[in-house]
Amino acid sequence: MCGIVGYIGGRTAYPILIKGLQRLEYRGYDSAGIALVNNTNVNTYKCRGKVKDLEKLIGTQDISGSIGIGHTRWATHGAPNDTNAHPHVSMNGKFVVVHNGIIENYTFIKNRLVEKGYTFKSQTDTEVLANFIEDIYLTSKCSAEEAVRSALLRIIGAYGLAIICTDEPDKLFGTRKGSPLVLGIGNGEHFLASDATPIVEYTDKMIYLNDEELVIATANEIRLTNIHESGDKQINVTKVDLSIDNIDKGNFPHYMLKEIHEQPLTIADTLRGRLLPDAHEIHLGGIADVMPRLMQAQRIIIIACGTSYYAGMVGEYLIEEYARVSVEVEYASEFRYRNPIITPNDVIIAISQSGETADTLAAIRMAKERGALILGVCNVVGSSIARETDAGIYTHAGPEIGVASTKAFTAQAVVMTLLALQLGRKKGVLSEERYKSFIDDLVNVPAAINRILADEDKIREIAEKYRSASNSIYLGRGLLYPVALEGALKLKEISYIHAEGYPAAEMKHGPIALIDNLMPVFVLATKDRYYEKVVNNIQEVKARQGQVIAVVTAGDTVIRKMADYVIEIPHTEDPFIPLLAVVPLQLFSYYVAVMRGCNVDQPRNLAKSVTVE
Ligand code: F6R
Repeated sequence: MCGIVGYIGGRTAYPILIKGLQRLEYRGYDSAGIALVNNTNVNTYKCRGKVKDLEKLIGTQDISGSIGIGHTRWATHGAPNDTNAHPHVSMNGKFVVVHNGIIENYTFIKNRLVEKGYTFKSQTDTEVLANFIEDIYLTSKCSAEEAVRSALLRIIGAYGLAIICTDEPDKLFGTRKGSPLVLGIGNGEHFLASDATPIVEYTDKMIYLNDEELVIATANEIRLTNIHESGDKQINVTKVDLSIDNIDKGNFPHYMLKEIHEQPLTIADTLRGRLLPDAHEIHLGGIADVMPRLMQAQRIIIIACGTSYYAGMVGEYLIEEYARVSVEVEYASEFRYRNPIITPNDVIIAISQSGETADTLAAIRMAKERGALILGVCNVVGSSIARETDAGIYTHAGPEIGVASTKAFTAQAVVMTLLALQLGRKKGVLSEERYKSFIDDLVNVPAAINRILADEDKIREIAEKYRSASNSIYLGRGLLYPVALEGALKLKEISYIHAEGYPAAEMKHGPIALIDNLMPVFVLATKDRYYEKVVNNIQEVKARQGQVIAVVTAGDTVIRKMADYVIEIPHTEDPFIPLLAVVPLQLFSYYVAVMRGCNVDQPRNLAKSVTVE
């Protein structure tokens, strides 16, 4: 939540900061701002709204300066308005701050500062921090670096920060705890950002800051220290393999549509080097060292939030079915606070696209303290969760910029499928013959998704028919139950239509009361072991005049006669059906949202990376 960006070097900072904020806008988009430093003169521009509103506000005003910081906000303290927008400038103008996170003890600090005569313009915790640093700086007569360090030692909470001191305008300070921060190393210039996307255009050399590290950058030098001591730390530079094409919309009108269409490629990327069809083998290099411990696990606990949680459910069903290991899937936010029983014989798998979700990170830390082996399934390379886990498997889906997760879900489900099949084979639960036939079929999944995407016009027609619905139900059984939940989440988050996902058989225990002739009911009814039972569920809906849109296996003639609409997906082996069945649901949600005039890539109230609990 919130994106921060900073620049120091020889160029005009403004275009770099604006472009950086556009790239980070998926992290929060209720207000935006920048501060530009030209010698000791600081121009701060900020407003409620998006980065394009900020650009409009700045218009022809002074944009000079080769040092600057910027922010795009997802409000935590204080309503989204012009005053609460970042950057925040301290009362005497000495410090300018942008912040991603929450300062928990800000009220206590604010009261102390008010007693000392400080006044505040905004309701934010960030302005308190700016004044707190300034107060230390002025009363202790210390350097800006010492003032920043001293303030950070006394605050409680999470932060990614970019800070400028107007008395030392040739320095850019960056620090983090709980919220991500990356420093890019250019030629005579340095960049700061919440993730690598604003920086890749200029350099591939980056430093991923660790918690409590403090970097001090001038145009030509960097010093890495931490908030506890001023001594220099060793700098580890990472070469980031991310191209601009990955973060552009290309010819698509929205990132979400681009990301839906990328899935044949991203799934192939997830499989690359892991699915070895010629050798009929699955190779998961990232967890090879911990495989013996995983094989001994009494229980696997999957922790995640939102869409990643549903991918975890797919993993639960597959691991229990094919490897016969007991699996629990937990919402990270519940797990971390409910004092769960965790033993050193447990293996925790944390699933997270961003690798920065605060609840998932906190749950990992708790489980680690209790001795469990922690594995990560993350998309963002170098993210906090990827670094804090003992081992892991990257999903390699490339940057996901649309706020609603699509390609990350299928990539996570692919990883969980590979893990289940490998574990099943190694444990001897899955016969060699079955294992090989699964591998042969998994190779065909990207092509099968291409065939579903070719039917896009039909899905758009169905969306046209139901665009004005107020409610909807998604039903599925077995592996398609998590897909029903994911389909419902997609629809509600981007089109604001109320949607419920349910296990199909559970419908008669309550939700069936909602069904009338206005209620669209998505039924996931492919040819698997539940088929006959789901056919009965469709009849129950039709008997109550519900509108049925069924996702079926190609060639199904039975359901075609009962349903109002059918969407066919190619035949595939059971474990891979979720990878195909989710795609029409993603497209349906996308088109409904577009037809309703919703902002598909940036739905209201949401942010891509949830770094607050
Ligand atoms: C839904 C969505 C969210 C995320 C959730 C977890 O489309 O994107 O529900 O799945 O916030 O985020 P990560 O996977 O980054 O931990």
